[in-house]
Amino acid sequence: MSLELQVNYRKAEEKDWEKILELYNSLSSEDLYLRFFSYHRLTLEEAKKIVSGGDHYTIVAESEGKIIGEGTLYNDGEFALVVHPNYRRIGIGTKIVKKLIEKAKEEKLCGVKFYTLPDNYPMIRIGKKLGFTISEDVDEVFGYLKLNCS
Ligand code: COA
Repeated sequence: MSLELQVNYRKAEEKDWEKILELYNSLSSEDLYLRFFSYHRLTLEEAKKIVSGGDHYTIVAESEGKIIGEGTLYNDGEFALVVHPNYRRIGIGTKIVKKLIEKAKEEKLCGVKFYTLPDNYPMIRIGKKLGFTISEDVDEVFGYLKLNCS
């Protein structure tokens, strides 16, 4: 994978649902579990719901005509993301989380948070790098970043 890869980060649009479905079809069952805390495959309706907004804001990472990453921030400050397996470890996940934090600040949210499993090193690493307080339990890790909402 070239380090010179051009990646564009933008808000998800209605037309993106098919490419988001392709992204999710590239994921392992474990990846899906980490994203949704369940093992099922994304349906067409769920892909359309991701791009529809409402109670959430979704950002996509786009490169070479494909959507290679997706991150969603919910109104309560919780967020989750995935990066295509072929495009990991080059900073895309970190960048998506930074963009979601920017959006949360714009929306004057008081904090952002994520839940993951204790063996999800990359996600915990992202949280630690970006200043999240990490609470580790036996079966779950919780990351919280307080924002200035006053
Ligand atoms: N082994 C060791 N370190 C790894 C790693 C691996 N397999 N994958 C990533 N890292 C490290 C990176 O080196 C980086 O650390 P650094 O900044 O100190 O170098 C950090 O983890 C983050 O890497 P980054 O490239 O920004 O993230 P990514 O684009 O690989 O995406 C995830 C990270 C978590 C989004 C991606 O692994 C993924 O989609 N996982 C499945 C879904 C998931 O877990 N989502 C999170 C739900 S909250």
